[in-house]
Amino acid sequence: MWGGRFSEPTDAFVEAFTASVFFDQRMALVDIQGSLAHAKMLHRIGILDDDELTAIEKGMAQITEEIDNGSFEWSVSLEDVHMNIESRLTQLIGDAGKKLHTGRSRNDQVATDIRLYLRQAIKQLLDQIRYFQAGLLNLAESEAETILPGFTHLQVAQPITFGHHMLAWFEMLERDHSRLADCQQRMNQLPLGAAALAGTSYPLDRHYTAKLLDFDMPCRNSLDAVSDRDFAIEFCATAAICMTHLSRMAEELVLWSSAQFNFIQLPDRYCTGSSIMPQKKNPDVPELVRGKSGRVNGHLVSLLTLMKSQPLAYNKDNQEDKEPLFDTLETLSGSLRAFGDMVPNLNVNRDAMYAAAKQGYATATDLADYLVNKGLPFRDAHEVVGNAVAFGIQQGKDLSELSLEEMQGFNNRIEADVFEVLTLEGSVNARNIVGGTAPDQVYLQVEAGRKLILD
Ligand code: ARG
Repeated sequence: MWGGRFSEPTDAFVEAFTASVFFDQRMALVDIQGSLAHAKMLHRIGILDDDELTAIEKGMAQITEEIDNGSFEWSVSLEDVHMNIESRLTQLIGDAGKKLHTGRSRNDQVATDIRLYLRQAIKQLLDQIRYFQAGLLNLAESEAETILPGFTHLQVAQPITFGHHMLAWFEMLERDHSRLADCQQRMNQLPLGAAALAGTSYPLDRHYTAKLLDFDMPCRNSLDAVSDRDFAIEFCATAAICMTHLSRMAEELVLWSSAQFNFIQLPDRYCTGSSIMPQKKNPDVPELVRGKSGRVNGHLVSLLTLMKSQPLAYNKDNQEDKEPLFDTLETLSGSLRAFGDMVPNLNVNRDAMYAAAKQGYATATDLADYLVNKGLPFRDAHEVVGNAVAFGIQQGKDLSELSLEEMQGFNNRIEADVFEVLTLEGSVNARNIVGGTAPDQVYLQVEAGRKLILD
C-alpha cells in the first residue's frame, strides 16, 4: 500500500506487531457502510461516475457476503480491516476500487468506524438496560409488601419493603441509561473529510456524508476529528459506573443467597455446584459479574492513560483503543444479559426476610417517632428508646414483646396504641412519603417507572 518510498519490505515480526486486523475485523460491516457513504458522496460531487459507483456497491456487496459466510481471506500484511477490504475491492473491480480512498485517510476512516460501531453497540445496551429495568419493576410490584430489614453499616437499621429495594436498583440503571444515551449523542459527529489531519483539497460534501450515515453533523475541526477518543473514554467511564452498580447488586445477591441470610434463592440454571462438596450451590454468575467490574475499571484506566499527553493529531498509539473498548462492550453486555434474565426470576423467601426484620430492633426509630408525636423532643425520645432497647437485649425480647407496663417504665406517655407502631407493617406503612418504603409508594413508583422506560 505504501511500497514506493521504502527500500526494503517490512520485517515479518514488525508486520504482525503493528497489525490490528486480528481485533479490528469486527468493524468490517461498519467500515463498508462508511465506505459506501463516502463513495456516494464522491459520486455526487463528480469524482466517481455512475459505473464506478455501481462497481463499488457490487464489490462491497460481495465482500459483505464473503465476510458473512467466512470465506473472506484476512491478511496480516494488509495490517487492518480498512486495507484488507479496500484491497479486496480493487482485486474484484479494478480501478474504481482504487478511487475510493480519494479525499480520505485511514485516520478519519478508523475514527468514523469506531463511532459507527460504538453507536450501534450502545443502542443494544440501552435496550438491555430497559429490559432489566422492566424485570425489576415486575419484581418490585409482586414484592411491594414483602418486608425485610434495611441495613446501614450492614447492621439492621429499619424495616423496608423488598419492592423498594428493587426500585433502588432501578434508579441506578436509570442513571446508567441516561449517561449512555448522553454519550451516544455527544459522539454523533462525523470525522470523514478530516482526511489525514488537515482536511482535504477535494470539495467533499461532508454534510451529505454525515446525513447518509445518520450523524448530526461533520466534526468541526479536522485535527480533533482524527485524534479524539473522548467518546471511547466516556463510554468506558459510563460502563465502569454501570458495572459498579451491577457489582453492588451482585454482592447483595451473594449475601442474600447464603444460608445465613437465606433471603433468596437464585434460579438453579444460574448456579453451579462443587466438584467436591455435594451440598454446594454457588452463586457464580453474581460473583463473576462482581469480578468483571474490575476489568472494566482497568479498561477505563487504559484508555485514559493511552490518551494522556498525546500530541495532535493521529498517533499509532490510538490503535490500542480498540481492545479495551471492545472488551468493555462485551463485558457490560454479557453482565446485563445475565442479570436481566436472572434477577427478575429470583425466588424470594418472604418468611426468612420477615423473621430477619423482627430481629435487631428495626422499629426502634418508630418508637422514637411515636414519642415525638406525644410531645417529647426527638433527642429525649432517642434516649428513652435507647434504654428500652438495652433492656430488651438484656431480656432477650423484641420491643414489641415488652409489656405495656415495662414500656411505661421508660416513659409514661406510652399507651396501648404503641404496639401498632412497633409492628413491621406499621413501620413501613408509616413511610408513605415520596421516595419512601411504604407499599403504597412502591406501587406508585412502579407505575411511574413503567412510564419512564417507555419514553
Ligand atoms: N489500524 C489503525 C488504527 O487502528 C488505522 C489507522 C492507521 N493510520 C495510520 N496513519 N497508520 O488506528
